[in-house]
Amino acid sequence: MASGCNRVFLGILFPCFMVYYTHGLTIDDGVIRQFPEDLRHENIHLSRSVVDGTSGSPWPLPQQMTSNGSQLYLSSFTFEFSYSMYSCDILQNAFQRYQKLIFDGRAEYAKLRFQSTKIKESGTLQLGGLVVKLDQPCEDLPGLESNESYSLDVNNNGAVLSTSSIWGALRGLETFSQLVYENEDGQQVINMTSITDWPRFQYRGILIDTGRHFITVPLLLQNLDAMAYNKFNVFHWHIVDDQSFPYQSRVFPDMHTKGAFKPAYRHSYTQEDIALIIEYGRQRGIRVVAEFDSPGHSQSWGLSQKDLLTPCYSGGKPDGTFGPMNPMLNSTYDFLKKFFAEIVSVFPDHYIHLGGDEVSFNCWKSNPDITTFMQQMGFGDDYSKLESYYIERLLEIMQTLKAGYIVWQDVFDNKVQVEPDTLIHVWKGGYQDELGSVTKAGHQTILSSPWYLNYVKDPYDRDWKNYYKADPQNFSGTQQQKDLVLGGEACMWGEYADGTNVIQRLWPLAGTVGERLWSAADVTDVKTAGPRLVEQRCRMVRRGIQAEPVVGPGYCLYEYSP
Ligand SMILES: *[C@@H]1O[C@H](CO)[C@@H](O)[C@H](O)[C@H]1NC(C)=O
Ligand SMILES: *[C@@H]1O[C@H](CO)[C@@H](O)[C@H](O)[C@H]1NC(C)=O
Ligand SMILES: *[C@@H]1O[C@H](CO)[C@@H](O)[C@H](O)[C@H]1NC(C)=O
Ligand SMILES: *[C@@H]1O[C@H](CO)[C@@H](O)[C@H](O)[C@H]1NC(C)=O
Ligand SMILES: *[C@@H]1O[C@H](CO)[C@@H](O)[C@H](O)[C@H]1NC(C)=O
Repeated sequence: MASGCNRVFLGILFPCFMVYYTHGLTIDDGVIRQFPEDLRHENIHLSRSVVDGTSGSPWPLPQQMTSNGSQLYLSSFTFEFSYSMYSCDILQNAFQRYQKLIFDGRAEYAKLRFQSTKIKESGTLQLGGLVVKLDQPCEDLPGLESNESYSLDVNNNGAVLSTSSIWGALRGLETFSQLVYENEDGQQVINMTSITDWPRFQYRGILIDTGRHFITVPLLLQNLDAMAYNKFNVFHWHIVDDQSFPYQSRVFPDMHTKGAFKPAYRHSYTQEDIALIIEYGRQRGIRVVAEFDSPGHSQSWGLSQKDLLTPCYSGGKPDGTFGPMNPMLNSTYDFLKKFFAEIVSVFPDHYIHLGGDEVSFNCWKSNPDITTFMQQMGFGDDYSKLESYYIERLLEIMQTLKAGYIVWQDVFDNKVQVEPDTLIHVWKGGYQDELGSVTKAGHQTILSSPWYLNYVKDPYDRDWKNYYKADPQNFSGTQQQKDLVLGGEACMWGEYADGTNVIQRLWPLAGTVGERLWSAADVTDVKTAGPRLVEQRCRMVRRGIQAEPVVGPGYCLYEYSP
């Protein structure tokens, strides 16, 4: 023990580590102080209350799974992924990723693990590899209709993953990697297991807002990894908003130079960045659905596009401020036609999110030209008819571009005439009634209301059990109505989130939404989910994701270290 590491306590010399046992006391230059009672964490003193993680339990929980205590061990030197029947680049790349994830964790850990790993010559059988039996050719792009089902068998005859789609193969590989865990001897082992699995909902998304703060490309890629670890399949990229326009348009290059945070080249996404993000998602079976919100939330568009936004008036004159896009000018729609033609060519997913939320009518009301237009059109003073007029013309444009579209619930609430195939995104309070009326009108829908993970003020908002319990089909309606619920999305709005905290705020909490949307409806027991969530968080930490502790005091086999 080095002398610098000793402390004098009540006249006795203690090695420094001993001092940590004097709970409630701090020693500073020989002065002993008592912590005020109310600063103590009562739980730690009154009971141990540590939740231990499970060993080799997958998250989200598969639909059907049987497992017995018999184990096989895996050797990093000999274990191999292989396929029978079809393969493609997506499968080959996944083999490489999962080989690393199973045996290395992060590169830094790999060295430590090889030093400490002593493969015991026990009676345990070795698992030589996993064979992927994909009986259909790979599809190119994931979509709303993708089939993600698979089955997985691990027993003393070997391990086989069977599926009809590459997307099912990816989900099954993730499950397989999660079945592997490290036993007390430092060996990678897997329990004999049989799984048949498919998602309860086909739309399982994460929203990230890059308009309020810029999030760098490496973090967006890391988030796609975290999504794959939790079987999410849609990255809803809320790319621009009032505050900034980080999308680099090919057709309108001044939109980001004038609309992004300064300097614009450091706060915007190039076409190459976007292609990389889309490809990274595709390799993991994740769709990228871009949102370009209008006619509101579009202040940053107006910085480059003259006459796109409505001039607001006060005292009979334009006051220099602007409102939502100007719905009375044909030039607005000419612009939108060119702009969305580009967007549809850049983002290959069938769906574009068109926003449509929180359109303020005040500016439109102040503008005398709009008033005249309202009279000409016979809208009276019902400004939702004007909003409707805008949205309908935008949807016509999207139809000629053959794109599918998603809009926020405001569009439906304002009684805008939308096509029956419009997907309605529910985000406000009172969501059970809203899901009832949206589906009663025959629309497909996705839910976000209970899953705003950016809310941090109220401790209720950070309690994982509340996110876990919310169910998108828990509303009154017929089975037909419930079938119109395609899934949901956890949201990370960007007012108070940037690269310093976006990953921690999202993970592992978003994983609770992942399990709700993937696993069977009756998987709701928080007592059994807690230890599984602990393991899932530690698994993500070991894979390099800064997933924060959410279940309470505890530990991981490998603690996070930068
Ligand atoms: C795997 O088997 C071990 C040993 O029998 C057991 O402790 C563990 O809980 C099992 N894991 C799962 C996920 O069933
Ligand atoms: C577990 O299942 C495998 C095959 O499915 C069998 O060989 C093994 O004996 C079983 N182990 C136990 C403890 O039942
Ligand atoms: C997905 O594929 C599996 C296996 O081929 C099939 O049994 C299942 O019905 C398919 N699911 C859907 C929703 O098409
Ligand atoms: C604007 O477009 C509409 C619909 O295409 C057309 O009827 C109208 O005449 C146009 N208005 C002007 C001022 O060009
Ligand atoms: C469904 O919602 C009701 C009303 O909010 C709530 O009381 C109930 O616990 C929920 N049930 C489930 C299974 O989530």
